[in-house]
Amino acid sequence: MKVLVIGGGGREHVLTWALARDSRKPFLFIAPGNAGTAELGTNLPIDSDDVGGLLEWAHKEMPDLTVVGPEAPLCAGIVDRFQAEGFRIFGPSQAAARLEGSKAFAKDVMRAGDVPTAWAARFTELDPALACVRERGAPIVIKADGLAAGKGVTVATSMGEAETALRQALEKGVFGEAGSSVLVEECLEGEEASILGLVDGDRVELLASSQDHKRAREGDQGPNTGGMGAYSPTPLITDDLWPIIREQVFDRTLAELKHRGIAFHGVLYAGLMITQGGPKVLEYNVRFGDPECQCILPRIRGDIIPLLEACIDGKLDQQAVEYHPGACVCVVMAAEGYPGAYEKGQPIDGLSEAAAQPEVAVFHAGTALHGDSVVTSGGRVLGVSALGGSLEQAIQRAYQTVDMIGWNGIHVRRDIGAKATGYVG
Ligand code: AMP
Ligand code: GLY
Repeated sequence: MKVLVIGGGGREHVLTWALARDSRKPFLFIAPGNAGTAELGTNLPIDSDDVGGLLEWAHKEMPDLTVVGPEAPLCAGIVDRFQAEGFRIFGPSQAAARLEGSKAFAKDVMRAGDVPTAWAARFTELDPALACVRERGAPIVIKADGLAAGKGVTVATSMGEAETALRQALEKGVFGEAGSSVLVEECLEGEEASILGLVDGDRVELLASSQDHKRAREGDQGPNTGGMGAYSPTPLITDDLWPIIREQVFDRTLAELKHRGIAFHGVLYAGLMITQGGPKVLEYNVRFGDPECQCILPRIRGDIIPLLEACIDGKLDQQAVEYHPGACVCVVMAAEGYPGAYEKGQPIDGLSEAAAQPEVAVFHAGTALHGDSVVTSGGRVLGVSALGGSLEQAIQRAYQTVDMIGWNGIHVRRDIGAKATGYVG
């Protein structure tokens, strides 16, 4: 069996790692991959959003399954194009991917489907947007409508900040087309959790809960990042919340999409704020979360290919997901300066010693091979994932391994999972 994985970050390394453990022992190809995926399969010099180049490769190599990691190719319609040419591919259609590609579309679906979420209004002109912000007051959230590589959201704590964000999007065009329409949104208070569901067109299999750490520094300080670490499960999602999340978020969202003639296949990710009034949707993603994926997939026992294929074929009722009973934590090791400017090309030491630790896996995100040595090539460089009988044990293992790895200019948050345990590694 030949499997193509599209993407080159930590999410794609853990997907490739899970595929490599599948009992079918597939031949793995990763486009473009990183130094970590190169150890498990063949990296291809094709960019993850070069849909034409990927299709050309598929026609030559005939993969049995293609798994899409990032949102950009999904929003560009890669699934529709692969399917039209007869290839089996895991992920939502372009129409379904709009849940992530347009925050205004997502809000419209939530409103029509009665999915709990923050109040919001959409603007394409500066003056009415400014008037709305002045009327509602701070704190208030400004969101670019389209894909903005995680930089399109401003949680403004002052009017000045809100105005600057609106001017940047609508007047200066810093997000380009993605920011030519913005949402002004009510600021929700509470704790955030990520709930991912496998979806087969009809049914949903909710995966274990997790919590990301989006801010750059300890104590949720500093700028927003792609995610500095995650753990699963999170005690925030108590037993009484699961049926509410299933019915009010997943069932209602999928029913509303269906009502619009859109079937969803793949991973639907709900970013939730657990407020005093219950869970509310902050955002949808239409793919596995990164780094959430690096703490959920290592917990799954058994083969992953049947789960992915069941989503394509509408057969999730024939699958059950079994978990390692403890916890998993993923600590992201970033380059100093991230999410701002940072250095690349730093040689990384200690990788083989770290990877040999029991119950630990080191997932590469921004790495590249220079000859035989692995060097840094991105802001988020590695994700160290550790399983444990308890969250405390997983955290301890993860940080012990983090401390074996070195390069010039490392930035790590030392409090991943601490909210759930009070323990700081
Ligand atoms: P998003 O890209 O929509 O997930 O937004 C990024 C981050 O901004 C979220 O993870 C939250 O921390 C924050 N955020 C987004 N929307 C809201 C909101 N309505 N209220 C408070 N925080 C928000
Ligand atoms: N961890 C957040 C995301 O994947 O978008």
